[in-house]
Amino acid sequence: MALRSPLINVMAGAAKKAARGLLRDFGEVEQLQVSLKGPSDFVSAADRRAEEVIRAELTKARPTFGFLMEEQGVVVGTDTSNRWLVDPLDGTTNFLHGIPQFAISIALERDSKPFAGVIYDPIRDEMFWAEQGQGAYLNEKRIRVANRRRLEDTVVVTGIPHRGRAGKEGYLPQLAAMMELTSGIRRFGSAALDLAWVAAGRFDGYWEGGLKPWDLAAGVVLVLEAGGTVSEVNGGQGMLHSGSILATNPVLHPLMCEALVNAGSRSAL
Ligand code: IPD
Ligand code: CA
Ligand code: CA
Repeated sequence: MALRSPLINVMAGAAKKAARGLLRDFGEVEQLQVSLKGPSDFVSAADRRAEEVIRAELTKARPTFGFLMEEQGVVVGTDTSNRWLVDPLDGTTNFLHGIPQFAISIALERDSKPFAGVIYDPIRDEMFWAEQGQGAYLNEKRIRVANRRRLEDTVVVTGIPHRGRAGKEGYLPQLAAMMELTSGIRRFGSAALDLAWVAAGRFDGYWEGGLKPWDLAAGVVLVLEAGGTVSEVNGGQGMLHSGSILATNPVLHPLMCEALVNAGSRSAL
């Protein structure tokens, strides 16, 4: 039986409270889908409302901690070693289109390193959570990364750069390499859930570039605590700065890393 620490309780409580509003708003979006104006403005408001709820809940519980939030940016706390990283709605494009694959992601960074994370999927009522040294959990059950050892047996998930995003030229050879090597590739549209699902062993691996710290921080703790390995696509450890990520199990990690790096260097020739 999983014993949640007071810290995880605070984070999970904030995520659940914000999720109530998101679920209501998601119902509206499904209606707005067919209207002429479309749901865009409504969704940005839903996003901001959810972040407001999370900020208020976390501030009530830990008034001295700082924040890095997707919508409201940086709030410097009096406690300089603890900072919350908040993505109130990860998977906005899905949400906007009425696709039920999105999440709330909250991480605690301690002394500039991800220390604890929760990723909550309100549609499935799945709370993924992890704290350094305590393991990773889905609701009350311990989770582990999958233990497949050969790339040909794997299903991997990725993020495909779209309009307005850099990195398309470098990405295509990576995709081509993975198409040759794996059993299947998925694009689900929520970086936070992609990482949570690697931690839960649903996906064997995940890679993407161009992400922000709030997309990644909670998922990094989850994958590490689930026994996985996390790096940048090139193998470095600056994920939160570069926004590049590769997450998988320790056996597949060098194989995926080598394939992706080789694909990149071939494209540069
Ligand atoms: C996005 C999602 C998506 C990823 C994008 C992110 P948002 O976050 O995580 O899966 O491919 O790069 O920006 O905008 O929905 O919070
Ligand atoms: Ca995001
Ligand atoms: Ca977001």
